[in-house]
Amino acid sequence: MKRISGLLTVLIVLLNLSTAMAQDYTTRILVLIHSDNGGTYELAKEIAKGIETHKAVKAVIKQVKASTNPKLKAIPVATVAELTSYDGIAFGSPVYFGNISTPMSEFLSGTVNLWTNHALEGMPATVFMSAGSGAGNELAVQAFWNSLAVHGMVLVSNGIRGYENIDKNIPQGNTVLGTTSLASHKTVERPSEGERYIARLQGEHFAKVVTALKGTFTKKTLAATETKKEKDIEAVLKEKNIIIPQAPNPVGNYTVFSRSGNLVFINQVALKEGKIFNPGKVGVTITEEQAKEASKQTMLNVMAVLKNAVGGDLNRVKKCVQLTGYFNTKEDYTRHADLMNPASDLVVAILGENGKHARGTMGVLSLPLNSAVEIQAIFEVE
Ligand SMILES: Cc1cc2nc3c(=O)[nH]c(=O)nc-3n(C[C@H](O)[C@H](O)[C@H](O)COP(=O)(O)O)c2cc1C
Repeated sequence: MKRISGLLTVLIVLLNLSTAMAQDYTTRILVLIHSDNGGTYELAKEIAKGIETHKAVKAVIKQVKASTNPKLKAIPVATVAELTSYDGIAFGSPVYFGNISTPMSEFLSGTVNLWTNHALEGMPATVFMSAGSGAGNELAVQAFWNSLAVHGMVLVSNGIRGYENIDKNIPQGNTVLGTTSLASHKTVERPSEGERYIARLQGEHFAKVVTALKGTFTKKTLAATETKKEKDIEAVLKEKNIIIPQAPNPVGNYTVFSRSGNLVFINQVALKEGKIFNPGKVGVTITEEQAKEASKQTMLNVMAVLKNAVGGDLNRVKKCVQLTGYFNTKEDYTRHADLMNPASDLVVAILGENGKHARGTMGVLSLPLNSAVEIQAIFEVE
């Protein structure tokens, strides 16, 4: 009996070990997209399905910048630093004037450090794109290839794979370099069945190449390629015991943040768990200390909304540009700057040098829900 249980223990240990080893050796492919309307994302899901027909290969879909489109906003945002951690990358973007889309191009512009350190050399890459009419779609995929070729990536084409099985009575986005979709040809839903099919084949073939090339190139960590060490904001929050609350919901016909280009605009009052924290007029119904606490709470709310605006990754915040603090005060009150300092200190504590901002403060007769403070904030993000 003792021997049997001993043998069983050994077996279980061996099984656990082999599972752990299998997990360690899983091949990971990043499906990195930009999408405005969701067409590229639809193709990305098919590419991922194709990739994952290989049991030991995992596809991770991420986007190059946060999106407010409801179809896309849950997709995590990739960092340049993480690119080297994958075994291959499938890139997807809309066609912009026969070229890569601007956000994808901006993201690639951020990879100069990886390039000069040969960090993506030898890594397999493949490309797919969503076009409108299809004008210049093959040129666009080729333009994509140009950037990836400069990185020394191994470019995986489609050839005429799957051509015989797609409907030739409608225009299709198959190109020899990679799948595209002709989104404005609406006689059928896009991506068409044929485009989805070719995308799955592309993913499947790509995973085969990635598996074959795994281990043939050195995965360089960002630390080896970086000149400027990036600070992980999550680690800063943990270290300083700063807890970012749930972002408040809008209570009218507006959005909690508004993004224009790379700027994000946010307005918040001192809400805490659904109620105004330390409400009242400074020096009349509340003390200056209470108003300062309300400032801090308001700034925490601003950071919560900002976190949502950057897809959950505060590392994508480039800079706090400006803060404006409005305080519920009497006519003759003058120490607004003191009341605002806890908000300014908080943003600097979180973002470091990038948290330093221009600032304005003022007193007002009343604020929404009798809040002691309202803060308007402008941030620059990736
Ligand atoms: C600035 C801009 C330029 C575009 N240029 C082209 C083009 O050259 N050829 C084309 O077929 N579609 C072009 N389009 C259309 C997009 O490629 C098309 O809407 C695409 O399906 C969007 O992908 P998405 O759904 O992933 O956002 C352009 C769109 C924009 C916004």
